[in-house]
Amino acid sequence: MRVSVYFTPGELAASELAGRTVVVIDVLRATSTLVEALANGARSVFPAQTTDDAVRLAQALGREDVLLCGERRSLKIPGFDLGNSPLEFTAERVAGKVLVMATTNGTPALMACAGAKQVLVASLLNLGAVVQELAAAGEDVEILCAGRERRFALEDALCAGMLALGLRERLERAPRTNDAAAVAMSLARRASGRMERWLGRSAAGRQLKEIGLADDVAYCAAVDRHTVVPRLKERQVSL
Ligand code: MLT
Repeated sequence: MRVSVYFTPGELAASELAGRTVVVIDVLRATSTLVEALANGARSVFPAQTTDDAVRLAQALGREDVLLCGERRSLKIPGFDLGNSPLEFTAERVAGKVLVMATTNGTPALMACAGAKQVLVASLLNLGAVVQELAAAGEDVEILCAGRERRFALEDALCAGMLALGLRERLERAPRTNDAAAVAMSLARRASGRMERWLGRSAAGRQLKEIGLADDVAYCAAVDRHTVVPRLKERQVSL
């Protein structure tokens, strides 16, 4: 088995996706929010590239039947029902609902993987469940970090490293890794047990704290809060 990490979406070309298993990570906050929404009973989530795409898709699906969710500069998009804080996606708010979501980095990264054989959604919230599924499948894995505006994001690299370490611990034979996976694992070892502090030091974490969303950083830093493994199938993320 081979485990490869990509710190930014541009490192994994669409032409390389066919037949592959890809895991998409955006710890602060898109994939954490997706995991939270589906763990709380949302039926499915349609990722959108842009705000306008999201509005059009919601109208096509029937605006009264869907919740429009998303952020720009980490704040709720005007006119949308929800922003991108996992704390908003409670069972009361999302159970049984279909969501359309547009975020800056996470949803475009997800959509860029549509050509892959399978696309799993990971964050620290469902880390162990994702490791278990990948280990059981035993197939090569491409771990794609959404990053931050197409650049390296510390929180995503930490989660990628935790995933690779989890696979290493679970598999009889240590998987082969690319250099980015080796760096991510070394980062994750250093941050182990102090995830909240490391997430708080990241650029995304600092920005969220500056705008009063420190609770989101703490929430997204919790490992194994949920056991769901969302997947992208036919343009929507579901269980
Ligand atoms: C993103 O997808 O860009 C992030 O999740 C942004 C955010 O939530 O602040």
